[in-house]
Amino acid sequence: MDRRHFTLAGLASGAVAASGALAGPAAAATSASSGFPKGFQWGVATAAHQIEGNNVNSDFWLLEHLKGTPFHEPSGDACDSYNRYAEDIAIVARLGLSTYRFSIEWARVEPEPGLYSQAELDHYRRMADLCRRHGIRPMATFHHFTSPRWLAASGGWHAPSTPDRFAAYADKVTRAMGDVLDAVCTINEPNGPVEAYGERLDKPIPGEDLLAMLAAKAAGSTQWSGFGLGDVIKTRDGMIAGHKAARAAIKANRATLPVGLTLALTELVAGPGGEALRAHIFDEARRPFYDAVKGDDFIGVQTYTRTRLGPDGKLPNTEKTLPMGYEYWPQALEACIREAARETGCPVIVTENGIGTEDDAERIRYTDEALRGLRRCLRDGIDVRGYIHWSLMDNFEWLEGYRPKFGIVSVDRKTFKRTLKPSAHHLARIARTNGAAIG
Ligand code: BGC
Repeated sequence: MDRRHFTLAGLASGAVAASGALAGPAAAATSASSGFPKGFQWGVATAAHQIEGNNVNSDFWLLEHLKGTPFHEPSGDACDSYNRYAEDIAIVARLGLSTYRFSIEWARVEPEPGLYSQAELDHYRRMADLCRRHGIRPMATFHHFTSPRWLAASGGWHAPSTPDRFAAYADKVTRAMGDVLDAVCTINEPNGPVEAYGERLDKPIPGEDLLAMLAAKAAGSTQWSGFGLGDVIKTRDGMIAGHKAARAAIKANRATLPVGLTLALTELVAGPGGEALRAHIFDEARRPFYDAVKGDDFIGVQTYTRTRLGPDGKLPNTEKTLPMGYEYWPQALEACIREAARETGCPVIVTENGIGTEDDAERIRYTDEALRGLRRCLRDGIDVRGYIHWSLMDNFEWLEGYRPKFGIVSVDRKTFKRTLKPSAHHLARIARTNGAAIG
């Protein structure tokens, strides 16, 4: 199986004040000399399955432990952040960042259909409370690739009941902790699978049927559908319905809580003869989401690279190829912000941007370059309200395991000791100077 084509994160991308209000256009208009408005959010992001460890009720855990699994290694203890979250939040505070984006794990909150765990809801509330005590805005993602195992074994996002189930879970979480959240991202990168499908010229992932069959068997079911597996159009439509239903459930509890979703966006470029494929991917993987989010409080832009297309799919990289197969292309952020703002009319928050590299100096260069593009967007009057870097720490990079290094903090795989990299101090300087440090 071609690991690069099966990388779920690859499939997915080619990521407010105590009142709960996002810094509004008034703040955006007050440009400081750095080019970033007063109140601009600087933050870092993580996702539960990638850092918490022992997410045993999730669909991914089962896949990771199948015989012949495509995962390089299982997530296991991850970064043990389920237990060490206070240390992690203290690092975010020490760096002077204003936002921490983390995800709430549906598989923990609802380990069996309709059985909600108060203890887990309390756990996530403690995280958000702690952020607030440190003066950090907690932004929660309600679905970041993983689902409860029972959901995958009962049709996943293909099942007509799933949007309502997701909304019921969103309702529980909002009742339990909506008052302390600053913003919610309903679903992380729901366009990712269909975007990758388009890049494969609408072909399924080689071996996915077999994998789904083995997973179903292991779960004692006849069906299995997880994020990125199976009919991507059904997944897309289920997730759009899920976003809308969850948004309504969240707003019914707390109308002022900002809600949006995040999209996996690469700078999508037509190379020679690639215009039709580019239009096809845009129409199937982006336009339906751009239409669905109109009126949301924000759109989350998540960008790592560009995708150049020819008539037969992706064209080879012309710039440096990074360990994940991505092309080094920090310019993508500017292009994606412009596209998302134009297509949705929503305020933009960059909910993920970063680089998987062993070379931390390269991470600093990449970040500065990406941010210069963001600043050009601000200068052109685009309403961009924050930059949230992926990721706080080196973590479980899905199929690739622990090899790719996206963190500004490294984590010792045996002791879980966290060590700040130069890029962490650099991001802290950027936040402290509200962007002036990028030059
Ligand atoms: C995902 C993250 C992932 C990152 C880097 C994003 O698409 O949201 O979970 O780790 O890309 O691959």
